[in-house]
Amino acid sequence: MKVLVTGGLGQLGREISKLTASSEHTYIYTDVRADGDVVRLDITDSAAVGALVQDVDVIVNCAAYTDVNKAESDADAAYKVNALAPAVLAEAAKAAGAMLIHVSTDYVFDGESNVPYTEDAPKNPLGVYGRTKLAGENAIIASGCRHLIFRTSWLYSNSGKNFFLTMAELTASKPEVKVVEDQVGTPTYAYDLAYLITYIIEENLLDRNGVYNYSGEGVCSWYDFATEICSQLGHICCVIPCRTEDYPSPVKRPHYSVLDKTKVKADFGLEIPYWRQSLAMAVKEYFSLNK
Ligand SMILES: NC(=O)c1ccc[n+]([C@@H]2O[C@H](COP(=O)([O-])OP(=O)(O)OC[C@H]3O[C@@H](n4cnc5c(N)ncnc54)[C@H](OP(=O)(O)O)[C@@H]3O)[C@@H](O)[C@H]2O)c1
Repeated sequence: MKVLVTGGLGQLGREISKLTASSEHTYIYTDVRADGDVVRLDITDSAAVGALVQDVDVIVNCAAYTDVNKAESDADAAYKVNALAPAVLAEAAKAAGAMLIHVSTDYVFDGESNVPYTEDAPKNPLGVYGRTKLAGENAIIASGCRHLIFRTSWLYSNSGKNFFLTMAELTASKPEVKVVEDQVGTPTYAYDLAYLITYIIEENLLDRNGVYNYSGEGVCSWYDFATEICSQLGHICCVIPCRTEDYPSPVKRPHYSVLDKTKVKADFGLEIPYWRQSLAMAVKEYFSLNK
């Protein structure tokens, strides 16, 4: 099989790349800029997408405009990458008879619930990022292409810009750090989601179709997550809980974004690691990278 991965330099793309290094299938990694084995492909360029997708069996779209704050003042760019480009990928996938595996977000929900969101719970994104990601999902579904959409939350890894690495740096360098405790959700180690996606491809479970939630197991606040990061790294820092309003932000964020994973576990026969266990794996990797 030939598999095209977009966003190959991002957190998720890099984890998929590591996991497929010895696969018997052909994986082509692309991103908006070329780097090493990663080929340049701007997913908003429909001609370039059409040319590359022609003979692929699976497209994994890890590319996105992920800066939630910046998206508020850069809505056109976010819309192009998160909404228009998935539509382009979907049309190309349909023409090639390929499966499109796409990644979306808990930010399609407004966070007003107090029970985990099922896949078909009402959507009501609070900002530009969530609205553009929801438009991307809808375009893929409307295209009629074969698709799997995985909504995830609080993604982190040992590369790129994410909460885990930010807290690792802050708790190492500051005596105290304030973190919001009134936003609750579940961290997702990018490796775990990459594992699911590569498992589906490698085991040829490509007869499934639809939208699935995927995050770590369990529930915590950003404060709990930061406290655990600090503790597992052995840093001496006082993590202090604060409220969302203490951190002025251009965008409203959901207070509750826990995803119900019943469907993904049933359809893929999956056990999802508890978020603290996944964090322990990330911390182990962090130490090996920062010896
Ligand atoms: N990060 C989270 O907390 C989170 C939470 C929920 C869902 N998600 C979703 O999970 C998926 C993976 O996220 P991630 O954290 O791995 O993202 P990421 O680290 O930001 O990686 C995204 C990659 O896409 C690239 N990209 C941007 N515009 C592009 C374009 N026009 N053409 C091709 N590539 C382009 C980015 O390049 P540049 O860096 O140069 O822009 C980056 O390398 C995304 O769909 C995201 O929406 C993420």
